[in-house]
Amino acid sequence: MRRLKDEIMENGVVLSDTILKVDSFINHQVDVALMRCVADEIVYRFRGEDITKVVTVESSGIPPAFMVANCLNVPLLFAKKKAPSTQTDDVYSAKAWSFTKKVESNLTITKKYLDKFDKVLIVDDFLATGEATNALISIVNMSGARLVGVAAVIEKCFQDGGKKLRASGIRVESLARVKSLKNGVVLFEV
Ligand code: G4P
Repeated sequence: MRRLKDEIMENGVVLSDTILKVDSFINHQVDVALMRCVADEIVYRFRGEDITKVVTVESSGIPPAFMVANCLNVPLLFAKKKAPSTQTDDVYSAKAWSFTKKVESNLTITKKYLDKFDKVLIVDDFLATGEATNALISIVNMSGARLVGVAAVIEKCFQDGGKKLRASGIRVESLARVKSLKNGVVLFEV
């Protein structure tokens, strides 16, 4: 996606060989028009799949996932990282190690919001090691729902999350595929 790549080149900040900061347009301040374009592209790629629910993890996954759910006119369901005090229902849960924050989270989704009749598209801002995505996939599997695929705004291809998911037969679509962040330079896969 040309527009997304241009934005990354212009406003993304390479913090290290592994971390790309995009908080001026995705992770903190959100460029809503860009997210709309991102969502249109994801919806186009998964056209005809009859998706019934978009699933993500709080917090940075929510803006792109919300836009996709809005375009598809289906609910957005986001996994929580901390059980809220209002949590009284049964939940599915799975653990995920956060690569950026160096903490383990217990992701939870209330059972009544996901079932075997759902066709789920997972949408996230980054696909990196695949920890968060794998935890979401476990939850989708526990619910009996069908996983249609995984869509990421940015995939860091030098980390192996996307490679492993594809190898296991899961459809993965990412809109900007970063090959390397070495020497402060963003290189995309062609
Ligand atoms: P994933 O590949 O399934 O996403 O799992 P991984 O554990 O590798 O990454 C999950 C977390 O790390 C997500 O945020 C994701 O947004 C963030 N992340 C991974 N690589 C980068 C990066 O290069 N830059 C930035 N800005 N974020 C990255 P999180 O820890 O769940 O936090 P948040 O969503 O609450 O912000």
